[in-house]
Amino acid sequence: MNEVRVGIVGLGRLGRTHAINLAQNVPGAKLVAACSFVEDELEYAKRELGVTETYKSYEEMAASPNLDAVCIVSPSGCHPEQIRLAMEKGLHVFSEKPIGLDIEDIEKTMEVIKAHPDQVFQLGFMRRYDESYQYAKKMVDEGQLGELTVVRCYGIDPSSGLESFVNFARNSNSGGLFSDMSIHDIDLVRWFTKKEVSRVWAMGKNAAYPELDELNELETGAAMMQLEDKTMAILVAGRNAAHGYHVETELIGTKGMLRVAAAPEKNLVTVFDENGAVRPTSQNFPERFSDAFVHEMKEFISCIKEKRQPEVGAIDGLQSTKVAIACQQSVEANQIVEVK
Ligand code: NAI
Repeated sequence: MNEVRVGIVGLGRLGRTHAINLAQNVPGAKLVAACSFVEDELEYAKRELGVTETYKSYEEMAASPNLDAVCIVSPSGCHPEQIRLAMEKGLHVFSEKPIGLDIEDIEKTMEVIKAHPDQVFQLGFMRRYDESYQYAKKMVDEGQLGELTVVRCYGIDPSSGLESFVNFARNSNSGGLFSDMSIHDIDLVRWFTKKEVSRVWAMGKNAAYPELDELNELETGAAMMQLEDKTMAILVAGRNAAHGYHVETELIGTKGMLRVAAAPEKNLVTVFDENGAVRPTSQNFPERFSDAFVHEMKEFISCIKEKRQPEVGAIDGLQSTKVAIACQQSVEANQIVEVK
């Protein structure tokens, strides 16, 4: 196969980044089709990205004879059905996280994925493809931190993105703070420790944005977790970081500890002015994980060409969603929830 011909569904906040990467930054990929409900987005894809087929219906795009693969960046609740349809049409599938919002629906989807072992399935946990996280992972796997005892994760969106999030949450079900945001941190906890989460205790508070109450969304949430080997994980997720996009991870082990992005610095610049010595911070996910988004898509295309499966697949989607749902239940019931 010379070029992998890809159709993308969803050209919104993240879809546009994946579309640009597939059209311009991933050798071996060709973005041939795009699907969205929004006419302007389809015009953009044709005009700026050279897409030749545009669709308002995903079913129609998946039926195109000109596709080898799809990239699913639609709202989270659409993922399972869209994955199943593409798999059944013989297409390779890259799907954004979370894999779905409902466990039964995800399990049904996993059956379909399993029934098509020659087609690649990859889930969009892009942090695993970030250079700093890969560096940390190598240290952990080499035993440089000893045995892990605590993993601490912060995943807080910038206050500046709140309006766009409120629109997103009005139009589609995000799955709540833990399925939408903490899912990345839950995946990191599982990835670094190679252990599953046994029980969670989570809570939340809406202080600056009480309007989130109406949408049944949380502005800030926190969860404490116990893993099957008694390793502990502490997660803070939020949508109100005044300084930018704050993704930070700390790993504490018996021989040492490390932090990835202890401050969410944008680059190596320090500005000295009337505010003191100031380090600019990353402002949003496309900026912070720009390279990781390219690397994960390169991996997807390589897997298709080399006929192998990526490291991050459906089981990671299922397990992380189970934990995220348990966190949401814990907030609602105000008690510790066992993850089954
Ligand atoms: P968005 O609301 O900005 O865009 C949604 C897009 O999907 C729009 O182009 C819309 O026209 C299209 N769409 C909606 N329903 C559709 C349907 N049934 N058929 C065809 N097209 C449809 O959403 P956003 O923020 O880009 O999120 C999309 C997905 O990406 C979500 O699952 C979200 O969890 C995930 N995401 C992942 C991030 C990451 O860090 N990996 C960051 C942001 C989002």
